[in-house]
Amino acid sequence: MTETGLQPERLDLDPAPVAPERDLMSKFDPLIAERQRLLDSGVTDPFAIVMEEVRSATEAVIKGRETILLGTYNYMGMTFDPDVIAAGKQALERFGSGTNGSRMLNGTFHDHMEVEQALRDFYGVSGAIVFSTGYMANLGMISTLVGKGEYVILDADSHASIYDGCKQGYAEIVRFRHNSVEDLDKRLGRLPKEAGKLVVLEGVYSMLGDVAPLKEMVAVAKKHGAMVLSDEAHSMGFYGPTGRGVYEDQGLEGQVDFVVGTFSKSVGTVGGFCISDHPKFEAIRLACRPYIFTASLPPSVVATATASIRKLMTATEKRRRLWDNARHLHGGLTQLGFRLGTKTPDSAIVAVILEDQQQAAAMWQALLDGGLYVNMARPPATPAGTFLLRCSLCAEHSREQLDRVLGMFADAGRAVGVIA
Ligand SMILES: Cc1ncc(COP(=O)(O)O)c(C=O)c1O
Repeated sequence: MTETGLQPERLDLDPAPVAPERDLMSKFDPLIAERQRLLDSGVTDPFAIVMEEVRSATEAVIKGRETILLGTYNYMGMTFDPDVIAAGKQALERFGSGTNGSRMLNGTFHDHMEVEQALRDFYGVSGAIVFSTGYMANLGMISTLVGKGEYVILDADSHASIYDGCKQGYAEIVRFRHNSVEDLDKRLGRLPKEAGKLVVLEGVYSMLGDVAPLKEMVAVAKKHGAMVLSDEAHSMGFYGPTGRGVYEDQGLEGQVDFVVGTFSKSVGTVGGFCISDHPKFEAIRLACRPYIFTASLPPSVVATATASIRKLMTATEKRRRLWDNARHLHGGLTQLGFRLGTKTPDSAIVAVILEDQQQAAAMWQALLDGGLYVNMARPPATPAGTFLLRCSLCAEHSREQLDRVLGMFADAGRAVGVIA
């Protein structure tokens, strides 16, 4: 989980303007008051959870209680893979705990070269650049690719890192309606023909777990002479014949110019990357501020990523189990009468839609008290003002765990009055 503290993902981080004051911190008073109200009501703060112990990819101790993890993006359960752990330990002993520098200077170690080779092999491409996080990969790629007089065209429900990448650069920003091929076409049609354009898409959208009609969107982008970047953070490892993502599943290899991804989900560690077959791709390293002006990842982290990515290349059985689990949970929750973000199990995210903040908080608390952790998400982080309990599945969830999960949802849903 990367969303911690007061601000979940997709949030526009600019606080509301206030009258000029000496104490710059006073603009946070409404947030502080809201958090205090939550704490006074006796409810656990859903954005301040502490994992006191982590037993496996699917179990932790939270508030002294054994808890099933159903909100961690650990889709392929790689965090406790023995080969991944061994690779990290070995690198830690051989190369020390950190790099103390940028990739441009002294921060490129043997393991950074290895992980970029693993990415080139995994995606079957000529170019791979690793960043310190997925957030920084989007920040860096978008702000570097499109500049003054050019256009970045993005889905309205894009991840915060995509929005921030737009803000960091100097290009004009154009938004289109979530997953609307028609709106994308219309907006591209209004832009000057000769100007450089980048269409930014996501394979799976992380709030509702819905999938983009990439095939149609890429066709529209190409018709208007735009390049395409697809963020495949929530599909790597299990979408498409070899787990490359939604773009592979929809037969778009060779048509998407840049794919951004993260190590913080299926890979099970931390880091971000972009891959491409563009012959000039390496030039990004020379101009990209979020690549240049920050320290590179510790060798132990990139070594765990390499081991994990290489295992994901042949993780057919895990892929099958993850999809089975997604179908089982989606089917069970539908049968219980919950309203879900997608009609069918389209990804490893199953979002339960609730009426309002109060109902979502009560459900979330009841589940936690019963020994289940899910992500709570609310506006403005969520699309269309929805209040969500977001469940993300792991290949390592057992059928017995998921049946317990369904039992907990049934009990909590009835107690809170969400289902009959
Ligand atoms: C679609 C998407 N892109 C990028 C990121 C950022 O990834 P990271 O956690 O590596 O910073 C996330 C993280 O939640 C995401 O959901």
